[in-house]
Amino acid sequence: MTASPATIRVVILGAGKGGTALLELFTRSPDVQVVGIADSNPEAPGLHLARNLGIHATTDVLALLAEERADLIVDVTGDPAMRSALIQHKPPHAEILGGMAALLIWKLAQHEQDLRDQLIQSEKLASIGTLASGIAHEINNPLYTITGLSEHLQEETRPEVIQEFIGEIITAGRRIAAIVQGLNAFARRTQEQAVSDVNLNQTLDEAVKMARMATVHDQVQVVTQFSEVPPVRGKADELLQVFVNLVTNAVQAMEGQGTLILSTSSTNGFVRATVRDNGPGIPHNNLGRIFDPFFTTKEQGKGTGLGLHIVRDIVSHYGGQVTVESTLGQGAAFTVKLPVAPQ
Ligand SMILES: Nc1ncnc2c1ncn2[C@@H]1O[C@H](COP(=O)(O)OP(=O)(O)OP(=O)(O)O)[C@@H](O)[C@H]1O
Ligand SMILES: [Mg+2]
Repeated sequence: MTASPATIRVVILGAGKGGTALLELFTRSPDVQVVGIADSNPEAPGLHLARNLGIHATTDVLALLAEERADLIVDVTGDPAMRSALIQHKPPHAEILGGMAALLIWKLAQHEQDLRDQLIQSEKLASIGTLASGIAHEINNPLYTITGLSEHLQEETRPEVIQEFIGEIITAGRRIAAIVQGLNAFARRTQEQAVSDVNLNQTLDEAVKMARMATVHDQVQVVTQFSEVPPVRGKADELLQVFVNLVTNAVQAMEGQGTLILSTSSTNGFVRATVRDNGPGIPHNNLGRIFDPFFTTKEQGKGTGLGLHIVRDIVSHYGGQVTVESTLGQGAAFTVKLPVAPQ
């Protein structure tokens, strides 16, 4: 018996739906390292994702087995001939997981994926809750203006005052119309589930508009330093959620007062988008924990602690990374790095 290794090195055979779900599951598990994935179909989705993640992806199963020292070979090709080929060519120490056992793992991976989707959904609902109370507040102000001034108008006879009040009522009405329009845009977007090419400059602009509704934002100066960046690939509403969460955190950290710098750039096949604030920053001790689910320093009822967890989950799902830099007392900067959309 050999001792069980600290890190299990896995090769996945089959990069269709099953192989892709396993790849996502394993890359999220700290003790599992996927050293390669193969599929005879060069267009298999798992191969593309693996390349984005910097994992060896190939159409040549035997070459992969020869090159990568795997502890475990997971066969989800569904090809009956594969098993005998594997027994012949696998490295002596490697174990094979195939047939029913691989199917079981695949089912568990699918279940994990469903839970992840539910988590994203419930975080979205939680942020809609915050948004709703922010919107109620935003709409209430112009509404008070309209009712208050209209009541005055019932008694008012001076034409110049009537003119002035009517002007203010129209402005307040337009303000409400703008809020409702912004909401409609968001509602449409959440139904739009398809993966598409997304321009992160637009996503950042929209995120600021959304966060403006959810947080008190009046004294925040927003500075944009956008470059002409190529599109990335993803679901527009998920990417929007990433930046709404980052911008909301930044505004909350600055307590609604400070400078928010949004910047984008692209190099070496990746687009980078940074959300930088000049709030209090993040204590060194917390830096390793902020991405953990339910980690929050906000008072009870204010934060779920899911925001950054979801951010990292969505970004890694698209083969990207989130990094944070912070100097205590000077602010924090979160950078999202995503692969450029394939042509
Ligand atoms: N820009 C920032 N500046 C300072 N601290 C931050 C910043 N962004 C995040 N944090 C810290 O990271 C913690 C976790 O953030 P996360 O978004 O996951 O949860 P939350 O904001 O507390 O709750 P929720 O997002 O569910 O409302 C925050 O409570 C805060 O302590
Ligand atoms: Mg948050």
